[in-house]
Amino acid sequence: MTAIAYNNNSSLNVPGPRPLPIIGRTVNTISFVKDSIGYTRELFQSYGRVVSLAAGGGTNIYSPLPNCPGTVFVYGPELIQQVATQHEIYYKYPLSGKLYRQRDFSARTEPLKHYGVGLFGVNSEQHLQHRKLMMPAFHKQQLDFYCQDMVAITQSELDQMLVGKPCEITDLMRRLTMRVATKTLFGEDAGSSHQGTGNILQEIAFCGNLPMTRLLPLDLPILPYHRYLTLLAQFESRMRGIIANKRAQGGNEPDVLSMLIQARDQESGLELSEDELLGHVGVLFAAGHETSANALTWTLFLLSQHPHIAADLLDELESVLQGEAPTVEKLQQLPLLERVIKESMRVLTSVPWNGRVTSQVTELGGYSLPAGTEVFASIYQTHHMEEIYPDPEAFNPQRWETIKPTNYEYNPFSTGPRTCIGAAFALMEIKIVLAMLLQRFRLQYINQNKVDRFGIIVMKPKYGMPMMVHPQDRKFAQGVGGVRGNVREMVKLPE
Ligand code: HEM
Repeated sequence: MTAIAYNNNSSLNVPGPRPLPIIGRTVNTISFVKDSIGYTRELFQSYGRVVSLAAGGGTNIYSPLPNCPGTVFVYGPELIQQVATQHEIYYKYPLSGKLYRQRDFSARTEPLKHYGVGLFGVNSEQHLQHRKLMMPAFHKQQLDFYCQDMVAITQSELDQMLVGKPCEITDLMRRLTMRVATKTLFGEDAGSSHQGTGNILQEIAFCGNLPMTRLLPLDLPILPYHRYLTLLAQFESRMRGIIANKRAQGGNEPDVLSMLIQARDQESGLELSEDELLGHVGVLFAAGHETSANALTWTLFLLSQHPHIAADLLDELESVLQGEAPTVEKLQQLPLLERVIKESMRVLTSVPWNGRVTSQVTELGGYSLPAGTEVFASIYQTHHMEEIYPDPEAFNPQRWETIKPTNYEYNPFSTGPRTCIGAAFALMEIKIVLAMLLQRFRLQYINQNKVDRFGIIVMKPKYGMPMMVHPQDRKFAQGVGGVRGNVREMVKLPE
């Protein structure tokens, strides 16, 4: 684990709500975990752009380090810039968060040293080296290659959609993006087998996100943490087999893992160890499919509530693509599609936070933060600043014809040296899926469940997103209005 320079003055002096006696910090933490966006919006309103989860600190949500002075939330371009660009001060830790701390307890926790570590678990020089080794797998030429897989998998999922029946869009998008992820990552289409690596990875993600796994990390058969460790062991043994196969075959296949196996630094000769490969693949899968699936779900939801935008978008798609799947060249000729996605990712940001831990004492927004402080920079709240985006809760793709925000004002993929390595991959995938789906089907929002937000790492609709599947008949006004739930706090929707 990356070392941190602690000093004796480790108390946190950032304003925040005074915790109740004894249970107070736990109550604040639960409030954040239950609804990170709603809870912090209230905190920001009361205390300003730099706020602590509990006055006096003492909370720990994400940092796996033994000492955590507390948790701080910030928003706004200046603060985002400091957190995102000063990568020697703001360190990142593995996706397993606090569970990463358990790694020394038994042989069963050994996989925690690798899973979800990848780029999320390296800092400073090591991060730069690993990123350099990984970049070729995400270069344009390589993306063009993934485009074919994306089109083929989207086609296969669309072929299975049933007209006249409700469809759970979150499930559909998760399955589709999981298939794309497993195919492009290690050449295995998860759609072809229910026992595949993709399914194990999905269950790992599910188990790892259960509050019980994090609250009670005890390796007892009745607890989800036990299942989590078992799944991690299964994933590791499977991946070691896949890596051995690829090595035996020369590793020349066009998937990300094969490229990472082959990657060598020209100057230093550095290559990735097997454990590092395991870490990277786990992170790429975890970071790369739920994110895109939810961005797609939210965009389809927003289109279902904005019939004029949906109609204009279909006009554009039909005139450029004429019912066909997009090619890499055609994707460049769809400006409204680009703006719709940009605006959707602004207003319903699928990754709402950048989480970091300070590696040393530092100053942020006028406050001194001790080493080891957890800092969460709010992408969501910055995307909703009236000063940058007039009428911020309006879903208005047209605004992108005239605005050009900086990378610190608009950063759905973060910014700085740790900006999302898969941003271009994700945008290509989202465009392909929307272009193919909207030309073929119209999705009508079904007013069945509330649309509430949920999740800290990825924001998703808590109760799913059921929609009725119609052939594309342009009856966009059907299903508009009547949406209930706290999504209405984030975006203006028709009554
Ligand atoms: C809509 C889809 C996506 C969104 C919104 C998204 C968003 C983000 C954000 C905000 C970060 C920075 C997080 C932080 O600093 O705390 C990030 C990092 C990362 N993302 Fe994505 N992402 C998406 C898709 C993908 C895909 C498809 C991949 C890979 C195939 C990917 C791989 C990664 C990796 C490896 C990092 C860590 C980069 C580093 O630390 O150097 N992401 N992503």
